[in-house]
Amino acid sequence: MSTSTPYPEHLRARIEEFLREIDFLPADPAARDHAAGTEGLVEAMRYSLLAGGKRFRPVLCLATGEALGVDPGRLVPAAAALELIHTYSLIHDDLPAMDDDDLRRGKPTCHKAFGEDAAILAGDALFAEAVRLVCERQAGGPAVQVGMLAEISRATGVGGMVGGQFLDLRDAGLLSADSLRRVHLLKTGRLIGACVTCALVLAPPAPTIAAHYRSFADELGLLFQIVDDILDEVGSEALLGKAVGADARRGKATYVSVHGLQRARELADERHRQALALLNAIPGPTDDLAALADHVYQRQS
Ligand code: IPE
Ligand code: IPE
Ligand code: MG
Ligand code: MG
Ligand code: MG
Repeated sequence: MSTSTPYPEHLRARIEEFLREIDFLPADPAARDHAAGTEGLVEAMRYSLLAGGKRFRPVLCLATGEALGVDPGRLVPAAAALELIHTYSLIHDDLPAMDDDDLRRGKPTCHKAFGEDAAILAGDALFAEAVRLVCERQAGGPAVQVGMLAEISRATGVGGMVGGQFLDLRDAGLLSADSLRRVHLLKTGRLIGACVTCALVLAPPAPTIAAHYRSFADELGLLFQIVDDILDEVGSEALLGKAVGADARRGKATYVSVHGLQRARELADERHRQALALLNAIPGPTDDLAALADHVYQRQS
């Protein structure tokens, strides 16, 4: 299927610029002095955060805002916070105690470059700094900020990304098709869902429309991880910037190991079509959201 609209590069550029300019040190001069000596920690955080990456999650947040009639500038801090959290999840996912990977975003993983101690702390700090970004820089006032933090914490806690990562590691290779779907929805889908729901917090539409957005995000999240599993089997290390074949080597349950490559592709196709069908029921300029769904479906990186 061909992409109707190109990847929203204008949104990616806004995020990229914002991420580059984040000052992780405290603003208050005395507190800043107290943080002297943390340069190595900040270097490890920036190393992973600015190593590239598609910026799919923050772009999804801004594109959802666009569809809801929100100026993307009003959502950039929350969108960037979601990318900080995603980067933290990658740093920890790559640790020897988890997936034990050496390559990420085309560079040595954070623990390879800075040591496991610094990598664990860089991940922890990225999560905390994400919360700080929403509290200090997100537009909309305290009710919107707390609403977004509720979405983000639900998406990353036990019922979200971290819970999904636990199930992914503990039950590796033993998952039925149903439980695999659930693990994928938790470990990958929930954070992708929060990109959509944070925009809904700032500009809530009618409840039926909000429900369509949430279902769209669920389809997209599942599609994202199904395609990730397929690319681990058939993708290119040079394009992905991470090792391929790692899931099979570790005996992980993936859409490919559980369903076979052909069926995994059909399931991706179904999720993609369903995501586009849900978008059709959503009013407003949804072109960039459709382009993102196409990108997730067709991506090679
Ligand atoms: C990789 O995420 C981890 C998964 C949840 C599958 P991405 O494929 O979005 O990685 P980057 O951000 O582009 O590096
Ligand atoms: C990771 O899934 C999902 C996260 C929450 C980070 P994977 O372990 O499949 O991600 P990759 O393939 O290492 O990027
Ligand atoms: Mg993993
Ligand atoms: Mg991994
Ligand atoms: Mg993977």
